[in-house]
Amino acid sequence: MAIVIKSPQEIEKMRRSGGVVRQVLDAMRDLVKAGVTTLDLERAAEEKIRELGAVPAFKGYHGYPCVLCTSVNEQVVHGIPSAERVLAPGDIVSIDCGVVMDGYYGDSAITVPVGEKISPRAKRLLQVTQASLEKAIQTVRPGATLGDIGAAVQEVVESEGFSVVRDFVGHGIGTRMHEDPQVPNYGQRGVGTKLREGMVLAIEPMVNAGKPGVQVLSDGWTAVSEDGSLSAHFEHTVAVVADGAMVLT
Ligand code: CO
Repeated sequence: MAIVIKSPQEIEKMRRSGGVVRQVLDAMRDLVKAGVTTLDLERAAEEKIRELGAVPAFKGYHGYPCVLCTSVNEQVVHGIPSAERVLAPGDIVSIDCGVVMDGYYGDSAITVPVGEKISPRAKRLLQVTQASLEKAIQTVRPGATLGDIGAAVQEVVESEGFSVVRDFVGHGIGTRMHEDPQVPNYGQRGVGTKLREGMVLAIEPMVNAGKPGVQVLSDGWTAVSEDGSLSAHFEHTVAVVADGAMVLT
């Protein structure tokens, strides 16, 4: 399917749904501590989303049961919130949230440490994954390519000895959560679809501390690293504008 170009008015609407996602994730970051369950996060997020006048985007999407994905430690993405999953000191938890408001979607994710004392390796993984997203966003401007985005992520991640997950990718976003193009977190500079003003992309590096392989658990959703290594995920919804990138989340 063709890539949908958004007008400045549409990007303004997406900035509003993105703002809701931002507020939800900020609230989640404050809630995360040892003893809290991932279902506690889910409940608080749903209340916040509705209070802000938006509708959760994930709940019911291909049958997904919740408003958040909460992926702990070796879980890469799409972990299902649960009363059984009690966050423990030293865990890392990836929290992914999407909403729709006034017909437009916003999608973002953060990975948060539980407590002050996570391992140095876990801390580095969070820093590097976030830095890879920032580096990717810095490449965004009209005329840059999808390969520039992927290469930027890959260079940051691999120079630290971590690996880029290849089985999941970012995506275009607009009046649907997933639009064309796919946005891989690997690639070659100068290669691939050229970015144009008005494209809106969800850029979302998923990074394993060990090998890149993932597998999906028997719940049909939770993706874990095949080697059991820690995994982190950061995501922003980003518009391509005349002078570069506008982060909407
Ligand atoms: Co996404």
